[in-house]
Amino acid sequence: MKRENQKVILVTGKGGVGKSAVAASIALIEAKQGKRVLLAELGERGFFRHVFPGAGDVRPVEVTAGVDAVRWEPEACLREYLLHYLKVEKLVDLFFSNRVMRSFVGAAPGLRELALLGKITSGPRGVGPDLPYDVVVVDAYATGHFRALCMAPVGMAAAIRVGPMADQSRMMTELLKNSKNTKMVIVTLPEELPMNEADELCQFVNQELSISPAIVINRNLPMPLSKQELDSVQQKLVGRDGSMDWLQIFANYMSEQGGRQEAADQRVRGWGVQPIHLPFYFTADWPTLLREMSQDLGHKWQVG
Ligand SMILES: Nc1ncnc2c1ncn2[C@@H]1O[C@H](COP(=O)(O)OP(=O)(O)OP(=O)(O)O)[C@@H](O)[C@H]1O
Ligand SMILES: [Mg+2]
Repeated sequence: MKRENQKVILVTGKGGVGKSAVAASIALIEAKQGKRVLLAELGERGFFRHVFPGAGDVRPVEVTAGVDAVRWEPEACLREYLLHYLKVEKLVDLFFSNRVMRSFVGAAPGLRELALLGKITSGPRGVGPDLPYDVVVVDAYATGHFRALCMAPVGMAAAIRVGPMADQSRMMTELLKNSKNTKMVIVTLPEELPMNEADELCQFVNQELSISPAIVINRNLPMPLSKQELDSVQQKLVGRDGSMDWLQIFANYMSEQGGRQEAADQRVRGWGVQPIHLPFYFTADWPTLLREMSQDLGHKWQVG
């Protein structure tokens, strides 16, 4: 069934910046607004099973009201894709059990990514098993692998040019470029390396997909004092006996962190995007983190 109004939200960014936390928070926000949501993760080893009991299955499982979680594996998606065309399960089994074909599947550039992207975009394209959701939130790959995921259909369409696979590949790219269906979310931190990767990703999404991503700057420390106030604290501490050194180090750290947060904000604005800021949450507990993050993000989040 073709789900023309289905929204596909792809969350990316450097490794460790909070992609999974942001993806799960977006899923919770959308569900709270009454949408039926699928939270999808990619690859062989799921992460959400650490967060939601019952998650991590290759079939959708409800993990909280209105949100199903699923884990999409490249090979299973490829199998489903082939079955869609060949219609004969035995032939697909034969294909996958053949040694030469197995190594082809493993080595063919972009085939696994193509199968995953095919699945991710299958709802609005109306291909394959029905995905009965209003929103599909994908906890996608980090920077380099994410680019490969998005570019897989471009490579395939250029390599084979004609036939159903070429047509499907072109439709996947069209869908990624269609802001009515697709939204990209780049998560970053107010630090140099994640910001450089976010910059690279933002340019990639602008240039290759012609859409404007949302940028989330995660883990901002609350700044109760301005830079001037922190500087004056430091000045007052200069020349004292060593007993206040720790306070000077702390004031110095806060001042520098404030500078990094300000620089990150300005840098994102320079890309023509209004950044979404999320604070650092002082908790190691996922339910608490997601509750607080989805509350804060909910005020700033608009899928349109
Ligand atoms: N705003 C925040 N405040 C405090 N801790 C956070 C925040 N966002 C994420 N974290 C923590 O940072 C860690 C990394 O977050 P997460 O797993 O979401 O990152 P990721 O980008 O998905 O990582 P990976 O690249 O490994 O998949 C987790 O321990 C998470 O609890
Ligand atoms: Mg993750």
